[in-house]
Amino acid sequence: MLRNDQSVLELGFPSRLTFETEGVRYSGSKRSVIPKIHELIHVLPIRSVLDAFAGTTRVSQYFKSAGYDVHCNDLAAYSSVFGRCYLENCDVERLALDEKMKFLNHLKPVDGYFTEHFGGEDDGTGLVKAADGKKKPFLIKNTRKLDAIRDEIDKIAEDKIEHAILLTSLINALDQVENTLGHQVAYLSKWAPRAYSDVVLRRPRLLPGDGSYRVTRKDAREITNRFDLAYFDPPYNTNNTHTPTTRVRYASYYHFWTTVVLNDRPQSVGASNRRLDCSSDSLPGGISKYESTRYTEVFTEIEKLIAGVDARYVLFSYSNKGKVTTEDLEKLFARYKVLAVEKFSHRENVQKLLTSNCEWLGDQSANFEYLFLVEKE
Ligand SMILES: C[S@@+](CC[C@H](N)C(=O)[O-])C[C@H]1O[C@@H](n2cnc3c(N)ncnc32)[C@H](O)[C@@H]1O
Repeated sequence: MLRNDQSVLELGFPSRLTFETEGVRYSGSKRSVIPKIHELIHVLPIRSVLDAFAGTTRVSQYFKSAGYDVHCNDLAAYSSVFGRCYLENCDVERLALDEKMKFLNHLKPVDGYFTEHFGGEDDGTGLVKAADGKKKPFLIKNTRKLDAIRDEIDKIAEDKIEHAILLTSLINALDQVENTLGHQVAYLSKWAPRAYSDVVLRRPRLLPGDGSYRVTRKDAREITNRFDLAYFDPPYNTNNTHTPTTRVRYASYYHFWTTVVLNDRPQSVGASNRRLDCSSDSLPGGISKYESTRYTEVFTEIEKLIAGVDARYVLFSYSNKGKVTTEDLEKLFARYKVLAVEKFSHRENVQKLLTSNCEWLGDQSANFEYLFLVEKE
Protein backbone atom coordinates (compact mmCIF):
# COMPACT_ATOMS: atom_id res chain seq x y z
CA MET A 1 0.00 0.00 0.00
CA LEU A 2 1.29 3.47 -0.83
CA ARG A 3 1.32 6.47 1.45
CA ASN A 4 -1.67 8.78 1.25
CA ASP A 5 0.26 11.46 -0.56
CA GLN A 6 1.76 9.14 -3.17
CA SER A 7 0.40 8.04 -6.49
CA VAL A 8 1.77 5.28 -8.69
CA LEU A 9 2.85 7.92 -11.18
CA GLU A 10 4.98 9.68 -8.56
CA LEU A 11 6.63 6.39 -7.72
CA GLY A 12 8.15 6.29 -11.17
CA PHE A 13 6.11 3.52 -12.66
CA PRO A 14 4.73 3.43 -15.25
CA SER A 15 6.51 4.80 -18.25
CA ARG A 16 4.32 2.61 -20.44
CA LEU A 17 0.98 4.17 -19.48
CA THR A 18 -1.39 4.10 -22.42
CA PHE A 19 -5.08 4.54 -22.97
CA GLU A 20 -4.84 2.38 -26.05
CA THR A 21 -6.46 -0.98 -25.46
CA GLU A 22 -7.70 -3.87 -27.56
CA GLY A 23 -10.95 -5.79 -27.50
CA VAL A 24 -14.06 -6.97 -29.28
CA ARG A 25 -17.07 -4.76 -29.94
CA TYR A 26 -18.97 -4.91 -26.67
CA SER A 27 -22.11 -3.30 -25.34
CA GLY A 28 -21.08 -1.22 -22.34
CA SER A 29 -17.36 -1.30 -23.12
CA LYS A 30 -15.59 1.47 -21.24
CA ARG A 31 -12.95 2.06 -23.88
CA SER A 32 -13.82 5.75 -24.20
CA VAL A 33 -14.18 6.25 -20.45
CA ILE A 34 -10.61 5.18 -19.63
CA PRO A 35 -9.13 8.72 -19.75
CA LYS A 36 -11.82 9.85 -17.26
CA ILE A 37 -11.04 6.92 -14.99
CA HIS A 38 -7.37 7.83 -15.16
CA GLU A 39 -8.09 11.47 -14.33
CA LEU A 40 -9.93 10.40 -11.19
CA ILE A 41 -7.64 7.71 -9.84
CA HIS A 42 -4.08 8.54 -10.78
CA VAL A 43 -3.76 10.94 -7.85
CA LEU A 44 -4.92 8.32 -5.32
CA PRO A 45 -2.51 6.32 -3.14
CA ILE A 46 -3.34 3.00 -4.71
CA ARG A 47 -1.45 0.01 -5.93
CA SER A 48 -3.88 -2.94 -6.06
CA VAL A 49 -7.07 -2.70 -8.10
CA LEU A 50 -10.02 -4.95 -8.75
CA ASP A 51 -11.88 -4.81 -12.06
CA ALA A 52 -14.84 -6.97 -11.00
CA PHE A 53 -16.92 -6.77 -14.21
CA ALA A 54 -14.07 -6.77 -16.70
CA GLY A 55 -15.91 -7.74 -19.94
CA THR A 56 -13.47 -6.97 -22.76
CA THR A 57 -10.74 -6.31 -20.10
CA ARG A 58 -10.03 -2.92 -21.68
CA VAL A 59 -10.11 -1.16 -18.29
CA SER A 60 -7.92 -3.90 -16.80
CA GLN A 61 -5.48 -3.39 -19.67
CA TYR A 62 -5.30 0.30 -18.79
CA PHE A 63 -4.79 -0.58 -15.09
CA LYS A 64 -1.92 -2.85 -16.05
CA SER A 65 -0.30 -0.25 -18.28
CA ALA A 66 -0.67 2.30 -15.47
CA GLY A 67 1.44 0.08 -13.23
CA TYR A 68 -1.15 -1.28 -10.82
CA ASP A 69 -1.48 -4.84 -9.55
CA VAL A 70 -4.70 -6.04 -11.16
CA HIS A 71 -7.35 -8.59 -10.30
CA CYS A 72 -9.53 -8.98 -13.39
CA ASN A 73 -12.85 -10.77 -12.96
CA ASP A 74 -16.03 -11.46 -14.90
CA LEU A 75 -18.63 -14.22 -14.99
CA ALA A 76 -18.14 -14.70 -18.73
CA ALA A 77 -15.76 -17.44 -19.88
CA TYR A 78 -14.50 -15.36 -22.82
CA SER A 79 -13.55 -12.51 -20.48
CA SER A 80 -11.22 -14.86 -18.56
CA VAL A 81 -9.58 -15.79 -21.86
CA PHE A 82 -8.98 -12.10 -22.66
CA GLY A 83 -7.72 -11.62 -19.10
CA ARG A 84 -5.15 -14.42 -19.40
CA CYS A 85 -3.99 -13.00 -22.74
CA TYR A 86 -3.72 -9.31 -21.83
CA LEU A 87 -3.21 -9.44 -18.05
CA GLU A 88 -1.57 -12.69 -16.96
CA ASN A 89 0.75 -12.84 -19.93
CA CYS A 90 3.65 -10.38 -19.64
CA ASP A 91 5.93 -11.89 -22.27
CA VAL A 92 5.43 -9.63 -25.26
CA GLU A 93 7.92 -11.55 -27.41
CA ARG A 94 6.31 -15.01 -27.31
CA LEU A 95 8.44 -16.16 -30.21
CA ALA A 96 6.47 -19.33 -30.94
CA LEU A 97 3.29 -17.34 -31.55
CA ASP A 98 3.93 -16.13 -35.08
CA GLU A 99 4.73 -19.63 -36.31
CA LYS A 100 1.59 -21.02 -34.69
CA MET A 101 -0.62 -18.30 -36.10
CA LYS A 102 0.83 -18.84 -39.55
CA PHE A 103 0.08 -22.55 -39.18
CA LEU A 104 -3.51 -21.85 -38.06
CA ASN A 105 -4.09 -19.29 -40.82
CA HIS A 106 -3.08 -21.86 -43.44
CA LEU A 107 -5.20 -24.77 -42.23
CA LYS A 108 -7.50 -26.33 -44.80
CA PRO A 109 -11.07 -25.10 -44.11
CA VAL A 110 -13.51 -27.83 -43.01
CA ASP A 111 -17.24 -28.21 -42.36
CA GLY A 112 -18.13 -28.62 -38.69
CA TYR A 113 -20.38 -27.43 -35.87
CA PHE A 114 -19.79 -23.70 -36.47
CA THR A 115 -20.51 -23.93 -40.18
CA GLU A 116 -23.65 -25.96 -39.60
CA HIS A 117 -25.09 -23.45 -37.10
CA PHE A 118 -23.55 -20.08 -37.94
CA GLY A 119 -22.46 -20.09 -41.59
CA GLY A 120 -24.46 -18.55 -44.43
CA GLU A 121 -24.11 -17.60 -48.07
CA ASP A 122 -24.79 -14.57 -50.25
CA ASP A 123 -27.99 -15.21 -52.24
CA GLY A 124 -26.57 -13.27 -55.19
CA THR A 125 -28.19 -9.98 -54.19
CA GLY A 126 -26.23 -9.42 -50.99
CA LEU A 127 -28.82 -11.00 -48.68
CA VAL A 128 -28.04 -13.79 -46.21
CA LYS A 129 -29.07 -17.28 -47.32
CA ALA A 130 -28.82 -20.45 -45.24
CA ALA A 131 -30.23 -23.97 -45.46
CA ASP A 132 -32.32 -23.50 -42.28
CA GLY A 133 -33.71 -20.14 -43.46
CA LYS A 134 -32.15 -18.24 -40.52
CA LYS A 135 -29.90 -15.16 -40.64
CA LYS A 136 -26.23 -15.95 -39.96
CA PRO A 137 -23.35 -13.98 -38.45
CA PHE A 138 -20.61 -15.26 -40.79
CA LEU A 139 -20.05 -16.29 -44.36
CA ILE A 140 -19.42 -20.02 -44.70
CA LYS A 141 -15.86 -19.41 -45.90
CA ASN A 142 -15.13 -17.99 -42.43
CA THR A 143 -17.01 -20.57 -40.33
CA ARG A 144 -15.13 -23.28 -42.24
CA LYS A 145 -11.86 -21.64 -41.23
CA LEU A 146 -13.14 -21.40 -37.68
CA ASP A 147 -14.07 -25.10 -37.70
CA ALA A 148 -10.54 -25.96 -38.75
CA ILE A 149 -8.73 -23.56 -36.40
CA ARG A 150 -10.70 -23.99 -33.17
CA ASP A 151 -9.93 -27.68 -32.56
CA GLU A 152 -6.32 -27.23 -33.59
CA ILE A 153 -5.73 -24.52 -30.95
CA ASP A 154 -6.39 -27.11 -28.23
CA LYS A 155 -3.77 -29.38 -29.79
CA ILE A 156 -0.95 -26.91 -30.38
CA ALA A 157 -1.15 -24.55 -27.38
CA GLU A 158 1.74 -25.19 -25.04
CA ASP A 159 0.09 -23.87 -21.89
CA LYS A 160 -3.00 -22.06 -20.60
CA ILE A 161 -1.65 -18.65 -21.46
CA GLU A 162 -0.70 -19.51 -25.02
CA HIS A 163 -4.11 -21.15 -25.41
CA ALA A 164 -5.75 -17.90 -24.28
CA ILE A 165 -3.63 -15.77 -26.61
CA LEU A 166 -4.50 -17.91 -29.63
CA LEU A 167 -8.19 -17.90 -28.69
CA THR A 168 -8.16 -14.12 -28.21
CA SER A 169 -6.55 -13.73 -31.58
CA LEU A 170 -9.24 -15.96 -33.12
CA ILE A 171 -12.08 -14.04 -31.45
CA ASN A 172 -10.60 -10.66 -32.45
CA ALA A 173 -10.37 -11.92 -36.05
CA LEU A 174 -13.98 -13.17 -36.01
CA ASP A 175 -15.17 -9.88 -34.52
CA GLN A 176 -13.74 -8.10 -37.58
CA VAL A 177 -15.95 -10.07 -39.99
CA GLU A 178 -19.08 -10.61 -37.88
CA ASN A 179 -22.34 -9.58 -39.55
CA THR A 180 -23.96 -7.93 -36.52
CA LEU A 181 -24.50 -4.58 -34.86
CA GLY A 182 -22.10 -5.56 -32.08
CA HIS A 183 -24.09 -8.18 -30.20
CA GLN A 184 -25.14 -11.73 -31.09
CA VAL A 185 -28.85 -11.71 -30.30
CA ALA A 186 -29.75 -10.82 -33.87
CA TYR A 187 -27.85 -10.91 -37.12
CA LEU A 188 -28.15 -8.60 -40.12
CA SER A 189 -30.23 -9.77 -43.09
CA LYS A 190 -27.85 -8.20 -45.61
CA TRP A 191 -24.14 -8.98 -45.59
CA ALA A 192 -22.14 -5.96 -44.40
CA PRO A 193 -18.91 -5.19 -46.31
CA ARG A 194 -16.88 -6.38 -43.28
CA ALA A 195 -18.39 -9.88 -43.53
CA TYR A 196 -16.72 -10.54 -46.92
CA SER A 197 -13.20 -10.18 -45.48
CA ASP A 198 -11.28 -13.27 -44.42
CA VAL A 199 -10.71 -14.42 -40.85
CA VAL A 200 -6.99 -13.83 -40.27
CA LEU A 201 -5.37 -14.39 -36.90
CA ARG A 202 -3.05 -11.61 -35.78
CA ARG A 203 -0.91 -11.22 -32.70
CA PRO A 204 -2.94 -9.57 -29.92
CA ARG A 205 -1.41 -6.42 -28.42
CA LEU A 206 0.48 -8.15 -25.64
CA LEU A 207 1.31 -5.99 -22.64
CA PRO A 208 4.47 -5.99 -20.56
CA GLY A 209 4.12 -5.72 -16.80
CA ASP A 210 6.02 -6.35 -13.63
CA GLY A 211 3.11 -6.24 -11.22
CA SER A 212 0.93 -9.05 -9.99
CA TYR A 213 -2.03 -10.04 -12.15
CA ARG A 214 -4.87 -12.40 -11.44
CA VAL A 215 -7.87 -13.48 -13.47
CA THR A 216 -11.00 -15.09 -12.04
CA ARG A 217 -14.47 -16.04 -13.21
CA LYS A 218 -16.69 -15.44 -10.20
CA ASP A 219 -19.74 -13.56 -9.09
CA ALA A 220 -18.28 -10.16 -8.16
CA ARG A 221 -19.54 -10.47 -4.59
CA GLU A 222 -17.55 -13.65 -4.03
CA ILE A 223 -14.23 -11.82 -4.28
CA THR A 224 -13.00 -11.28 -0.74
CA ASN A 225 -9.37 -10.16 -1.17
CA ARG A 226 -8.23 -6.75 -0.05
CA PHE A 227 -7.76 -3.98 -2.66
CA ASP A 228 -6.82 -0.32 -2.62
CA LEU A 229 -9.43 0.38 -5.30
CA ALA A 230 -12.37 -1.62 -6.59
CA TYR A 231 -13.79 -0.65 -9.97
CA PHE A 232 -17.37 -1.80 -10.60
CA ASP A 233 -19.03 -1.68 -14.00
CA PRO A 234 -22.06 -3.96 -13.62
CA PRO A 235 -24.65 -4.49 -16.36
CA TYR A 236 -26.98 -1.47 -16.46
CA ASN A 237 -30.02 -3.26 -17.72
CA THR A 238 -32.69 -0.71 -18.69
CA ASN A 239 -35.18 1.60 -17.03
CA ASN A 240 -37.39 1.58 -20.10
CA THR A 241 -40.89 0.76 -18.89
CA HIS A 242 -42.03 -0.36 -22.35
CA THR A 243 -39.63 -3.29 -22.20
CA PRO A 244 -39.91 -4.76 -18.73
CA THR A 245 -37.80 -7.73 -19.75
CA THR A 246 -34.11 -7.17 -19.59
CA ARG A 247 -32.56 -5.77 -22.78
CA VAL A 248 -28.90 -6.63 -22.26
CA ARG A 249 -28.24 -10.06 -20.86
CA TYR A 250 -24.54 -10.53 -21.39
CA ALA A 251 -24.64 -14.34 -21.46
CA SER A 252 -27.07 -14.14 -24.34
CA TYR A 253 -25.61 -11.06 -26.05
CA TYR A 254 -22.25 -12.77 -26.49
CA HIS A 255 -23.28 -16.44 -26.56
CA PHE A 256 -21.13 -17.04 -29.62
CA TRP A 257 -17.88 -16.03 -27.89
CA THR A 258 -18.76 -18.42 -25.06
CA THR A 259 -19.22 -21.26 -27.54
CA VAL A 260 -15.95 -20.48 -29.31
CA VAL A 261 -14.12 -20.50 -25.97
CA LEU A 262 -15.77 -23.61 -24.51
CA ASN A 263 -15.93 -25.41 -27.89
CA ASP A 264 -18.63 -27.58 -26.35
CA ARG A 265 -20.99 -27.73 -29.36
CA PRO A 266 -24.09 -26.87 -27.32
CA GLN A 267 -27.66 -27.43 -28.38
CA SER A 268 -28.72 -24.19 -30.04
CA VAL A 269 -32.13 -22.55 -30.13
CA GLY A 270 -34.05 -19.62 -31.59
CA ALA A 271 -33.46 -17.33 -34.54
CA SER A 272 -29.84 -16.64 -33.58
CA ASN A 273 -28.99 -20.25 -32.61
CA ARG A 274 -28.17 -19.22 -29.07
CA ARG A 275 -26.76 -21.70 -26.57
CA LEU A 276 -29.65 -23.40 -24.79
CA ASP A 277 -28.10 -22.50 -21.41
CA CYS A 278 -28.48 -18.75 -22.05
CA SER A 279 -31.68 -18.76 -24.03
CA SER A 280 -34.05 -17.83 -21.22
CA ASP A 281 -34.13 -15.65 -18.09
CA SER A 282 -35.37 -18.60 -16.09
CA LEU A 283 -32.36 -20.85 -16.71
CA PRO A 284 -29.73 -20.83 -13.95
CA GLY A 285 -26.82 -18.61 -15.02
CA GLY A 286 -28.74 -17.14 -17.96
CA ILE A 287 -29.19 -13.85 -16.16
CA SER A 288 -27.24 -12.12 -13.40
CA LYS A 289 -28.90 -10.27 -10.50
CA TYR A 290 -27.84 -6.92 -11.98
CA GLU A 291 -29.89 -7.84 -15.04
CA SER A 292 -33.07 -8.62 -13.12
CA THR A 293 -36.33 -6.93 -14.06
CA ARG A 294 -37.01 -6.35 -10.34
CA TYR A 295 -35.78 -2.93 -9.21
CA THR A 296 -35.28 -3.91 -5.57
CA GLU A 297 -33.27 -6.97 -6.49
CA VAL A 298 -30.84 -4.92 -8.61
CA PHE A 299 -30.57 -2.12 -6.06
CA THR A 300 -29.98 -4.53 -3.16
CA GLU A 301 -27.30 -6.36 -5.14
CA ILE A 302 -25.45 -3.09 -5.80
CA GLU A 303 -25.87 -2.04 -2.18
CA LYS A 304 -24.37 -5.33 -0.94
CA LEU A 305 -21.59 -5.18 -3.50
CA ILE A 306 -20.40 -1.76 -2.31
CA ALA A 307 -20.82 -2.57 1.37
CA GLY A 308 -19.12 -5.95 1.08
CA VAL A 309 -16.00 -5.17 -0.91
CA ASP A 310 -12.80 -4.94 1.08
CA ALA A 311 -11.37 -1.82 -0.59
CA ARG A 312 -10.45 1.66 0.51
CA TYR A 313 -11.79 3.31 -2.65
CA VAL A 314 -14.69 2.31 -4.86
CA LEU A 315 -15.15 3.62 -8.41
CA PHE A 316 -18.56 2.82 -9.86
CA SER A 317 -19.77 3.20 -13.46
CA TYR A 318 -23.44 3.50 -14.32
CA SER A 319 -25.79 5.13 -16.80
CA ASN A 320 -28.85 7.33 -16.42
CA LYS A 321 -30.60 4.73 -18.60
CA GLY A 322 -29.75 1.97 -16.14
CA LYS A 323 -32.25 0.15 -13.98
CA VAL A 324 -31.33 1.95 -10.75
CA THR A 325 -32.03 5.67 -10.71
CA THR A 326 -29.20 8.16 -10.34
CA GLU A 327 -31.01 9.59 -7.30
CA ASP A 328 -30.95 6.21 -5.54
CA LEU A 329 -27.29 5.74 -6.40
CA GLU A 330 -26.48 9.19 -5.02
CA LYS A 331 -28.27 8.29 -1.76
CA LEU A 332 -26.41 4.98 -1.60
CA PHE A 333 -22.99 6.57 -2.12
CA ALA A 334 -23.77 9.34 0.38
CA ARG A 335 -23.25 6.66 3.08
CA TYR A 336 -19.53 6.89 2.25
CA LYS A 337 -17.13 9.78 1.69
CA VAL A 338 -17.92 10.97 -1.83
CA LEU A 339 -14.75 12.14 -3.60
CA ALA A 340 -16.19 12.72 -7.06
CA VAL A 341 -19.32 12.29 -9.14
CA GLU A 342 -18.64 12.68 -12.85
CA LYS A 343 -21.44 12.93 -15.37
CA PHE A 344 -20.70 12.93 -19.07
CA SER A 345 -22.42 12.07 -22.30
CA HIS A 346 -21.51 8.79 -23.87
CA ARG A 347 -22.30 7.24 -27.22
CA GLU A 348 -25.65 5.50 -26.91
CA ASN A 349 -25.17 1.90 -26.03
CA VAL A 350 -26.04 -0.71 -28.57
CA GLN A 351 -29.46 -1.55 -27.14
CA LYS A 352 -30.81 1.76 -28.43
CA LEU A 353 -29.87 0.69 -31.93
CA LEU A 354 -31.70 -2.59 -31.67
CA THR A 355 -34.53 -2.32 -34.16
CA SER A 356 -35.29 -5.98 -34.71
CA ASN A 357 -38.02 -5.59 -32.12
CA CYS A 358 -40.07 -2.96 -33.93
CA GLU A 359 -42.11 -2.11 -30.87
CA TRP A 360 -39.16 -0.33 -29.32
CA LEU A 361 -36.74 1.84 -31.23
CA GLY A 362 -34.99 3.23 -28.24
CA ASP A 363 -35.46 5.99 -25.77
CA GLN A 364 -34.39 9.10 -27.68
CA SER A 365 -33.59 11.25 -24.65
CA ALA A 366 -29.99 12.01 -23.70
CA ASN A 367 -27.73 9.26 -22.43
CA PHE A 368 -25.30 10.03 -19.60
CA GLU A 369 -22.61 7.95 -18.02
CA TYR A 370 -21.74 8.38 -14.37
CA LEU A 371 -18.60 7.68 -12.42
CA PHE A 372 -18.95 7.72 -8.64
CA LEU A 373 -15.73 7.70 -6.61
CA VAL A 374 -16.03 7.12 -2.87
CA GLU A 375 -13.71 6.39 0.01
CA LYS A 376 -15.04 3.71 2.30
CA GLU A 377 -12.70 4.05 5.28
C1 LIG B 1 -20.97 -3.26 -18.57
S1 LIG B 1 -20.19 -4.81 -18.86
C2 LIG B 1 -18.52 -4.47 -18.40
C3 LIG B 1 -17.75 -3.84 -19.50
C4 LIG B 1 -16.27 -3.66 -19.21
N1 LIG B 1 -16.01 -2.67 -18.19
C5 LIG B 1 -15.52 -3.28 -20.48
O1 LIG B 1 -15.01 -2.16 -20.59
O2 LIG B 1 -15.48 -4.12 -21.37
C6 LIG B 1 -20.77 -5.79 -17.52
C7 LIG B 1 -20.07 -7.13 -17.36
O3 LIG B 1 -20.52 -7.72 -16.14
C8 LIG B 1 -20.45 -9.13 -16.26
N2 LIG B 1 -21.27 -9.68 -15.16
C9 LIG B 1 -22.61 -9.74 -15.04
N3 LIG B 1 -22.98 -10.17 -13.82
C10 LIG B 1 -21.82 -10.39 -13.13
C11 LIG B 1 -21.53 -10.82 -11.81
N4 LIG B 1 -22.52 -11.13 -10.94
N5 LIG B 1 -20.24 -10.93 -11.42
C12 LIG B 1 -19.23 -10.64 -12.30
N6 LIG B 1 -19.46 -10.23 -13.57
C13 LIG B 1 -20.73 -10.10 -13.98
C14 LIG B 1 -20.93 -9.39 -17.68
O4 LIG B 1 -20.47 -10.64 -18.17
C15 LIG B 1 -20.33 -8.18 -18.43
O5 LIG B 1 -19.11 -8.52 -19.03
